[in-house]
Amino acid sequence: MTSAEFTPDAALDLRHASKVFGGAKVLDDVNLQIHSGEIHAVVGQNGSGKSTLAKILSGFHQPEPGAEMQLFGHKYEFPISDEGRESMHFVHQDLGLVDSLNILDNIGLSHGYRTGRFGNVDWKHSRRRARDVLAGFDLDHLDMDAPISSLTASQQAIVAIARGLLGWKSETGTLVLDETTAALPHEEVEVLIKSVRKVVSRGAGVLYITHRLDEVFAFADRVSVLRDGRLVATRTTDSLTREELVALMVGDQVGEMRKPLPAREEIALSCRDLSGEGLRDIDFVVRKGEIVGVAGMLGSGRELIADAIVGASRRYSGTLEVEGRPVRASSPRQSMKDGFAFVPRDRLLRGIVPKLPVRENITLANLDDIKKNGHLRGKVEDAEVNDWIQAVGLRPPDPERQVISLSGGNQQKVLLARALRLRPAVLVLDEPTQGIDVGAKSAIYELLRETAARGTAIVLCTAEPEDMPDLCHRVIVMRGGTIVDELTESRLNRNDLIISCAS
Ligand SMILES: Nc1ncnc2c1ncn2[C@@H]1O[C@H](COP(=O)(O)OP(=O)(O)OP(=O)(O)O)[C@@H](O)[C@H]1O
Ligand SMILES: [Mg+2]
Repeated sequence: MTSAEFTPDAALDLRHASKVFGGAKVLDDVNLQIHSGEIHAVVGQNGSGKSTLAKILSGFHQPEPGAEMQLFGHKYEFPISDEGRESMHFVHQDLGLVDSLNILDNIGLSHGYRTGRFGNVDWKHSRRRARDVLAGFDLDHLDMDAPISSLTASQQAIVAIARGLLGWKSETGTLVLDETTAALPHEEVEVLIKSVRKVVSRGAGVLYITHRLDEVFAFADRVSVLRDGRLVATRTTDSLTREELVALMVGDQVGEMRKPLPAREEIALSCRDLSGEGLRDIDFVVRKGEIVGVAGMLGSGRELIADAIVGASRRYSGTLEVEGRPVRASSPRQSMKDGFAFVPRDRLLRGIVPKLPVRENITLANLDDIKKNGHLRGKVEDAEVNDWIQAVGLRPPDPERQVISLSGGNQQKVLLARALRLRPAVLVLDEPTQGIDVGAKSAIYELLRETAARGTAIVLCTAEPEDMPDLCHRVIVMRGGTIVDELTESRLNRNDLIISCAS
């Protein structure tokens, strides 16, 4: 191919990008053009190659020989030179923040600190710059010296994004966002997009990787679809329906949403007068076999409920009972003994053990079933793990794979398998389907319905209310730290839910 075939004014024009990992072709001759001034979504099932594509652009992975790239008409060879890299900005799926550092240092990390005449760091300038960029997200009140780990998941995402938006050397460039919004509630996605639109209006191109298809239609001009490492289509979003996009991503594998079976009479979880920081008088019960959704805008208290129930956060007053027994919610470990299983929202911080294989990540929470006389029974463990790998649809279905080398959505499936395997009385889920593609999502929902049908009570906290009406028996809505509404029967539909959350 000659460079004459490149699109000269494209912000990014990538040709023939392939990547092989251990003999498997993860990207297969991908051609992608991002126009200057456009938001270009890239979608695809878990493991279809989206993050690998982003990592090739960032220089983290080298593509196979034959790949070519132009940025605003300039041709770059792989590995990409520093100059080429400077015109691209990245926010990766795992955000790339350093936990032990504070906000200021995390922002300074990728853009360097300005130094004064004598080579000393100009802290005042660095501080002002960090504060200015955070102000765009209403986060300038944060203490710049606070460790990143003290921020909420969505605040961390915003710091990573703010960092990505800092330091554009020229007015043009390409911003690559890899599922940056996965941990963000809708309201914050709007704030993010406003800032992204500012750089777009100055001529930048944006590559926007997401699983949230509503975002694709709301924000993106065009969308490209990856399937098994191949780029199967690039379309304008105006010319597509959601169903057509899903079909391009997964073929016609998406099953019908089925309603859950009726819940039983017996109460599995009773939560009375739970009060404390950010929450007051939380009062609700969940019956055996019932799936109860917890919805609400950011700051409503919705994001605190799961941690409060399983004792992962500050102490709350009130009483909790599991199947009629009082429990203490003093720590996640204690809550597991009390019959809870928990899927936390921050899978990298509190969820997976990155360097351990899938097998151990699934079984580590409870080895009792597979232990006999103190020894692990290898074959029993293998068989069980393989069943779970099938059940959650892990790709690749390899129990010995280090979890960190799985795609983000597949890491999430490992966490779900671990929690479901405990066969808990109460399953508490905090943003359980973040990063999971539409096809896998319906399989996960089916698994939750089956789990409920066996008698488990499920509390599902999520910022994504779309699927709640089909999945849940009831949805409680929070505002100002307390429960303000409960949707059942005819009011349990998407419209009423959105109105109730927003009012
Ligand atoms: N370092 C690695 N070593 C081996 N295989 C890898 C590595 N990184 C990714 N893979 C494999 O490459 C494939 C594509 O992964 P990638 O992370 O690009 O998927 P993705 O489209 O971003 O998925 P998700 O939506 O789940 O984030 C997967 O099968 C993954 O397991
Ligand atoms: Mg990914």
